[in-house]
Amino acid sequence: MTGDRVNVALIGGGGREHALALAISRSPRLGTLYVSHPQNPGLASLGRPIDVPVSAREAYRLEQFCDRHGIGLVVIGPEEPLAEGLADKVRGPGRMVFGPGADGARLEADKAWAKQLMRSASIPTAEARTFTDPEAALAYARSRPEPPVIKAAGLAKGKGVVVPATAAEAAEAIERMMVKKEFGAAGREVVIEERLDGPEVSVMALVDGRSIYVLETSQDHKRLLDGDKGPNTGGMGAVCPSPRVDDALMARVEREVLVPTVDALRREGIEYRGVLYAGLMLTHGGPKVLEFNCRFGDPECQAIVSRLESDVIDLMEATCRGTLDSCEIAWRSGASCCVVVAAPGYPNEPRAGLPIAGLDRAGAVPGVTVYHAGTARDREGRVVTAGGRVLGVTGVGSSAAEARARAYEACGLIQFEGMQYRRDIGAPAAPARVRAKV
Ligand code: AMP
Ligand code: GLY
Repeated sequence: MTGDRVNVALIGGGGREHALALAISRSPRLGTLYVSHPQNPGLASLGRPIDVPVSAREAYRLEQFCDRHGIGLVVIGPEEPLAEGLADKVRGPGRMVFGPGADGARLEADKAWAKQLMRSASIPTAEARTFTDPEAALAYARSRPEPPVIKAAGLAKGKGVVVPATAAEAAEAIERMMVKKEFGAAGREVVIEERLDGPEVSVMALVDGRSIYVLETSQDHKRLLDGDKGPNTGGMGAVCPSPRVDDALMARVEREVLVPTVDALRREGIEYRGVLYAGLMLTHGGPKVLEFNCRFGDPECQAIVSRLESDVIDLMEATCRGTLDSCEIAWRSGASCCVVVAAPGYPNEPRAGLPIAGLDRAGAVPGVTVYHAGTARDREGRVVTAGGRVLGVTGVGSSAAEARARAYEACGLIQFEGMQYRRDIGAPAAPARVRAKV
C-alpha cells in the first residue's frame, strides 16, 4: 500500500498537533485529514472535524468513525490517550496507528516502572528509589545529604516533578503528592531521585518496534521566565538543533540510551511503535535520562517538524510497518526556533477569552509559522486565548540567529492583553554549571 493516498485522523488539540497537521497536509499522499479538536482554529483550517467523542473508554466510536471515513492512519499526539490504550483499540486490519500501545506508553505514564526498566538495562539515569508509603518516603528524603527530586510516578500534566531547594520543600512535595493526593492516583507512588545538574536536551527517535531513527535534536526551555527562572511549565520555547549536542554525543545517546531502551522493551515483550523521547541532562558523568515520553515533545515538535523535508506520512507509515531501516529523513538545513506565547496567569490560572491581534501579520514574516495551541474562536469569530500556552511562533532560517530573529519579529507583531513570552529562547547559552556527583 506504500505510496497510496491515505486518509488520516489526528488526535490531540495543541501546538504539537497543529505542527503535525501542517506537515501531514503538505504530503502529496494525503487524502483527507480529520482532526479531533476543531475548536483549535489552526487545526480547523487544515482538517475536517472528527464528530464523535474520542476516548479510550469509548474507542469503538472512533473505530466506527474510521471505518466510515476509510481512515488508514491514526496519529495520536498526546500521552493520555496513549497511556489509556487508544492505540491498541483502534489499530486494526487496514488501519495503522502512529503511537505506542498502553504497554509502551508506560515508559511515560509510570515513572517507577521506567526507572526499573532503565536499571535492568543499565541505562544511565539518576539514582532513585520508589515509595508508596509517605512515612518511608519522608524518612528517605531526610536521610539524603541534599534535597532530592520528588516525582509523582503517574501522569500529572507536566506538574508532577518538584526540584526542591530545601529539605522542607522536599517534605512538602511528598505531603502534597502522597498525603493530600493533589495529583490523585498519579501520586500514589513517588520516585525520589538524586538531583543532577547540567544543561538539558531532548532527543527524539522514531521507533518501529525494532529499529530506531534519531530525529534532529532540540532543546526545550521549561521555566516560565528568562534566564531559566520561575516555575516549570510545559515548555516556553524550543530550538532545533540543540546547540549542545554534536555527532559524538548523539552517537553516545543512541548507544547508551535509545538502543538499550528499545531492547529492554522487547525483552518485556513490547513492540514500541511511535516516538520515543528521552529528556536528558548532560552531566559531568555523561548524558543521563531524566524522563521518557511516549510522544513528540511540545513545543519541540513545532521546532523539529518545521525543518522536516521528508514526507511525514511516509515516515509514520514506516514506523507503523517496521520498515524504518529503509528510510532516509531529509531536513531543511539551518535551524528553527519556536517561541511560546502564553496567556496571562500561566502556568497556574491562564486567562481565556482574550482577543488576539496581529496573527496574519506575524504569519507573513518570511520563514515564520504561527502554530495555534491554546486558542479558539469566540462568538464573533475572533481568535481568542483558550489555554495556557496560546501560540508557538516558529521561525526557520539558515542559522540559529536568523531563525530566532524571525520568530521574535513575529512575536512583536502579536498582541493580546497580558501576553507573556520569554525573550531568551535560543539565545547564546551561558556556560553551564555542572555539579552532579557521579
Ligand atoms: P521530568 O518531567 O522528569 O523531565 O522533570 C521535569 C523537569 O524537572 C526536568 O526538565 C528537569 O528540569 C527537572 N528534573 C527532573 N529530574 C531531575 C533530576 N534528577 N535532577 C535535576 N532536575 C531534574
Ligand atoms: N516539552 C516537554 C514535553 O513535551 O514533555
